[in-house]
Amino acid sequence: MAIPERDNWQPPLIEGRGVVLRRHRPENLEAVVRWYHDPELARLTRYQTRPMTREEVERFFHARLLSPESVAYAIHERGTDRLIGVTTFSSLDGDNGSALFHITIGEPDAWGRGFGTEATELMLQHAFERLGLHRIGLSVFEFNERAIRAYEKAGFVIEGRLREAILRDGRYWDEVQMGALATDWLRQRRERLVQVAAETNPGRQPVAVGFRVS
Ligand SMILES: CC(C)(COP(=O)(O)OP(=O)(O)OC[C@H]1O[C@@H](n2cnc3c(N)ncnc32)[C@H](O)[C@@H]1OP(=O)(O)O)[C@@H](O)C(=O)NCCC(=O)NCCS
Repeated sequence: MAIPERDNWQPPLIEGRGVVLRRHRPENLEAVVRWYHDPELARLTRYQTRPMTREEVERFFHARLLSPESVAYAIHERGTDRLIGVTTFSSLDGDNGSALFHITIGEPDAWGRGFGTEATELMLQHAFERLGLHRIGLSVFEFNERAIRAYEKAGFVIEGRLREAILRDGRYWDEVQMGALATDWLRQRRERLVQVAAETNPGRQPVAVGFRVS
């Protein structure tokens, strides 16, 4: 049976060890409205401190999360399948092979348990090994140290800063620009595979490992 074209570039499911990324379903809306209504989430993610209104979230949900043209996934905890967050690419630029990355884990009890790092890795893998993109960028507020740490662990590096771009909690903070490149990602994957092969079969010569980039 032929695979529907969309399934090639946006498979219904991407499975990790601790999380599963699934295409959004209309019933996810209520959770997303609840998350974006949280003032702490607004503090961490928005230029305005005001949380998004229901109408704004509904527009975002339909245009960016549910749309068949978006590369957007719902993040589910693998063990329970509980919906815990959303992750998307925006500004997909085919001419330059780039996109911007976004992630929100909306359930605070799911923060700090490795889910964000893993979902970010799965999205980078998707971008570089399936979509054939070359560069993924993101921006994050300087005070969001948990996010910066998770992005670094997943493979992003800090590339620059928009100095004092955001006024929050009574002072100005930088907006940190981060990026990940396919070339770095694929090299690191190759190195990891060679290392695993060496540990599994000590004494054997490493075999060259190739990746399809597009
Ligand atoms: C940002 C986010 C995706 C990270 O995902 P997560 O699952 O919470 O993060 P992880 O558990 O994978 O990794 C967090 C890392 O930061 C570290 N960390 C946590 N709080 C920290 C802090 N205050 N300062 C420095 N490091 C911190 C953790 O120890 C962990 O690193 P380690 O594994 O080396 O110990 C998630 O917290 C989230 O969505 N938060 C709310 C919305 C948001 O901030 N989105 C990003 C907008 S740019």
